[in-house]
Amino acid sequence: MRAVTFDRFGDPDVLHVSQIPGPPPPRPGQVLVEVGAAGVNPLDAALRAGRLAPLLGRHFPMVPGNDAAGTVLAVGDGVSGIEVGQRVHGLFDAAARPARHGFATPGTYAQLALTRASALATVPDRMEVVTAAAIPVAGLTAYQVLVRKARVEPGSSVLVIGASGGVGTFATQIAAALGADVTGVAGGHRTERVRALGARRVIDHHDTDVAGLTERFDLVYDVSGRFSHRQLRRLVAPGGLAVANLGPSVAAFSPALRHPERRFGRHGFAWVSPDGRDLAALDRMVETGDVTPCIDDVLPLEEAPAAHRRVEAGGTFGKLVLAMDGSRSAADL
Ligand SMILES: NC(=O)c1ccc[n+]([C@@H]2O[C@H](COP(=O)([O-])OP(=O)(O)OC[C@H]3O[C@@H](n4cnc5c(N)ncnc54)[C@H](OP(=O)(O)O)[C@@H]3O)[C@@H](O)[C@H]2O)c1
Repeated sequence: MRAVTFDRFGDPDVLHVSQIPGPPPPRPGQVLVEVGAAGVNPLDAALRAGRLAPLLGRHFPMVPGNDAAGTVLAVGDGVSGIEVGQRVHGLFDAAARPARHGFATPGTYAQLALTRASALATVPDRMEVVTAAAIPVAGLTAYQVLVRKARVEPGSSVLVIGASGGVGTFATQIAAALGADVTGVAGGHRTERVRALGARRVIDHHDTDVAGLTERFDLVYDVSGRFSHRQLRRLVAPGGLAVANLGPSVAAFSPALRHPERRFGRHGFAWVSPDGRDLAALDRMVETGDVTPCIDDVLPLEEAPAAHRRVEAGGTFGKLVLAMDGSRSAADL
């Protein structure tokens, strides 16, 4: 099958499209998917650069990618509710049970990919495949923090630091849809676009010291992962919560922090878990128009190195997606 692979850790130029053997037939509980599009995440760049080697080893050639949307080709024994020919998407994870790290190995930048069935949700009829591929990692991370961990309620005040990126564009919209009073933090011209996502107020981190804000919030969600526990705690109202996205390299080197639901007093870390039910709930928010996945660009598979360069440089608004057939059609880009 066609896949983006790399034979050594390094910069984005180690990525290339090659032919590799396809996955084996699905084992019990697994689903084999013909991938239509794969989302690009900072996690994929961390894998390629070797920052996840302590967790995942070095079994070359490696295929990056955790997000995919496509069509079911085969299902293993014991899988119910998912049929051949159905359109599905998910944070792919082929392990029999949810693992601590929950990474797809091999990944989804490939014609075919295997996953545990419980990680999948059906793609709603009117949703394009590139939109479906943009949702799982970033959307689930935001959904699980806001709904499962923080249980945001109408009227809660929520600060989203990093509101313009893959996770933050989802977090801002989900928090607003839950009835929260959202303040977003983004950089430069992206601030206006964050306001359009439902943030009442947007702070530009280029000209404001976010850690020095005098307001207090019921939830401080540091998507960027750039702020210390101490800095975030200062911004939390009494009884509130601070949650920070754990970067993949931190997770790899700090096993104690990898527990998905571990909380340190009123401070927690986000660790996304592949969950088809949460994804279906988020899909319903997309169908009702409460959440619109923000897609910065759709690139052909061959441009995976460019996609990684852009993710590492920062400044994309929302998500980058790789389309297997090279088509760019998506929500208005
Ligand atoms: N633990 C988990 O489960 C999990 C899951 C998903 C992602 N992550 C991690 O979360 C991080 C964000 O992921 P992503 O996909 O949203 O990445 P992304 O699309 O690159 O977004 C990064 C965000 O950080 C903001 N930012 C950059 N510098 C900042 C600063 N100095 N102050 C405040 N904000 C700043 C950016 O804002 P501007 O571009 O507007 O400046 C942007 O909104 C990555 O490290 C990723 O690996 C963790």
